[in-house]
Amino acid sequence: MSTYPPAPFPRKGVTPVQPRKAQLPVYWLMVSLALSLPAHADRLPLPADAPPSFTAECGGCHLPFPPALLTAPDWNRVMAQLERHYGDNASLDAKTRREIEGFLQRHAATRSRMKGAGDPPRLTRTEWFLREHRKVPEAAWRDGQVNSAANCAACHTRAEEGSFREREIRMPRLK
Ligand code: HEC
Ligand code: HEC
Repeated sequence: MSTYPPAPFPRKGVTPVQPRKAQLPVYWLMVSLALSLPAHADRLPLPADAPPSFTAECGGCHLPFPPALLTAPDWNRVMAQLERHYGDNASLDAKTRREIEGFLQRHAATRSRMKGAGDPPRLTRTEWFLREHRKVPEAAWRDGQVNSAANCAACHTRAEEGSFREREIRMPRLK
């Protein structure tokens, strides 16, 4: 990430404070945690620049899915065939479609493990999603209260707020 304007650093007459040696491992830990995202992302809040049309149009039938869960080419494919949308019709006027597509592109994932599968692609079939959910028993996806992996809120009780923390998960009671 870059800052603009560039920080005037080191400033004249100011000696930059050096981190004490003992603190360095802590910094490295923080950096590596940040770099490992979203592998351990339990917070996927709606990006602040989300146009109101995104929640209105893409949050009507299901959760307005976090844009970071699919790559840009995948979002393109989703948005290019809204009239054939996983068995539904989700078509939009051209202006709204472009607005939402721009937003999804800006926040799309760049890693290959977020590449979806299917046509249109599913974010519930990315390598990342399958790995995060490897402990979910097969029967849980088919449970009457879940029905589909896309039904995030069935298990993630605070999914609407973009929170996917482990302690907020409530799994269906399997028979
Ligand atoms: C008319 C209802 C409707 C609207 C509006 C709608 N969707 Fe969907 N969407 C669906 C249905 C139905 C599915 C399939 C759900 C399932 O398989 O459980 C789906 C699935 C998806 C999936 C795949 C989820 C998975 O399984 O990985 C994505 C991505 C998606 N929608 C994105 C969007 C976006 C972006 C918009 C707004 C442009 C949108 N949807 C608007 C009905 C809708
Ligand atoms: C059948 C219940 C279920 C459904 C449906 C479900 N999840 Fe999960 N999710 C889980 C479980 C269980 C875990 C993993 C907990 C563990 O193994 O630590 C998990 C893990 C996650 C994590 C990782 C959280 C962390 O602590 O790093 C994210 C993010 C996530 N799910 C997002 C989603 C999204 C987005 C959807 C919908 C597209 C979804 N999940 C649908 C049950 C579910």
